[in-house]
Amino acid sequence: NRPEELNRNMDVSTFVDSNGGLIDRAIYNEPAIYAQEQRRIFARSWLFLAHTSQFKKPGDFFTTFMGEDPIIVTMDKTKKIRAYLNSCRHRGVRLCRADAGATKMFTCSYHGWSFDLAGALKTVPNEKAYPEDFDKNKWSLIEVPNVQEYKGLIFGNWDHEAEPLEEALGDMRYYMDAMLDRDPEGTEVMGGVMKWELDGNWKLAAEQFATDWYHVNMSHASALMVLSPTGKGPKPEIAATPGRQFVSENGHGAGFPTHPKSRFDARPVHEYYDYEMLRERLGDAAVEGPMTTGHATVFPNFSYLPVNGSIRVWHPKGPNKIEVWAWVLVDKSMPDDVKDAQRLYNLRTFGPSGIFEADDGENWSEIQAISGGFVTNRVPLNFQMGIGSEREDGVYPGKTSELYSDAAGRAFYKHWAKIMNTPAWHERNK
Ligand code: FES
Ligand code: FE
Repeated sequence: NRPEELNRNMDVSTFVDSNGGLIDRAIYNEPAIYAQEQRRIFARSWLFLAHTSQFKKPGDFFTTFMGEDPIIVTMDKTKKIRAYLNSCRHRGVRLCRADAGATKMFTCSYHGWSFDLAGALKTVPNEKAYPEDFDKNKWSLIEVPNVQEYKGLIFGNWDHEAEPLEEALGDMRYYMDAMLDRDPEGTEVMGGVMKWELDGNWKLAAEQFATDWYHVNMSHASALMVLSPTGKGPKPEIAATPGRQFVSENGHGAGFPTHPKSRFDARPVHEYYDYEMLRERLGDAAVEGPMTTGHATVFPNFSYLPVNGSIRVWHPKGPNKIEVWAWVLVDKSMPDDVKDAQRLYNLRTFGPSGIFEADDGENWSEIQAISGGFVTNRVPLNFQMGIGSEREDGVYPGKTSELYSDAAGRAFYKHWAKIMNTPAWHERNK
């Protein structure tokens, strides 16, 4: 037990007026809020760990983070996917330093303690020098108690009493299926993980992918000009574009234009799809909506772009820094040349130097760079677009709003504030 001062929680409701659509920008750069997020957001939410296709045989492993906690994800001897804190139980060195690989044991580089795939401490050099009651069973790796999968995506949660992943996703599953369930064989990731750093708070990225179609025509004007067959940019008045935005009370969000034909012809895999089959499999509304193109966030920090096949985690690295980890996702039964076309399309648009990706990061770091100013920090930010537009439309599951709306952003921050103000498992079980 630690002194309370180390875990002092503040009431964050004053920072978020989700009904009025006002956000206090201190939530992006205040170190005490960031520390509270580690305890009450990242230590208790379902966080994306890896894709099942990264594990083929026992001993395959991948290292990642849950919040700032380092994690080893591995397949044990029974082919179960398990996750452990990537920190040696002896003196705390990062146990596994490789990004990914295959092993039988995780052996520490400092004094040589080794742990097997089930996390058990197996070897302690010079064990005889320890007291008689030293019990290796008490020094296993710290295991993430909840690891669950949704259609190839593996998530972990530190909360023993967390609601099951599928319940936490709720209606979000329908929108995710437009990417994860097009192919009866499912999906797989191609190549490695692209990693890059951005100056900015993790929420700026997560919120934008949940709610913000509004920025597309302005921020990405030059990229859209390059992709447009006429070479002209988008029209300035765009609010009439038909589309929907999914608004989740669990903080998730997704937005997409709707079009009777799945319209996004620019993607190279367009001709590969059998749209009749997809309509039977996913339903007309999914093919004409979330499959067209779009953006989405699973609260708190997993986002994806269904058309580009980009899945990514916004790893928080302090209040002012994000490390983006992005994978290329493809349908498993695609022929190799189609997979490769999809991979190149992904890299050109939303790879680290993609024509769209660079525009977004630039805006987030510009918000962050000036947030330290005293006066700047006192001026609220506007999330009022589409207030009152949230409703059940009878077509798309859950509550939805218009394509151009801040509704999912308001819901993201409402959920954020709610769980920031609710004691987590480590506080309940004292
Ligand atoms: Fe790992 Fe000592 S810190 S064996
Ligand atoms: Fe963007």
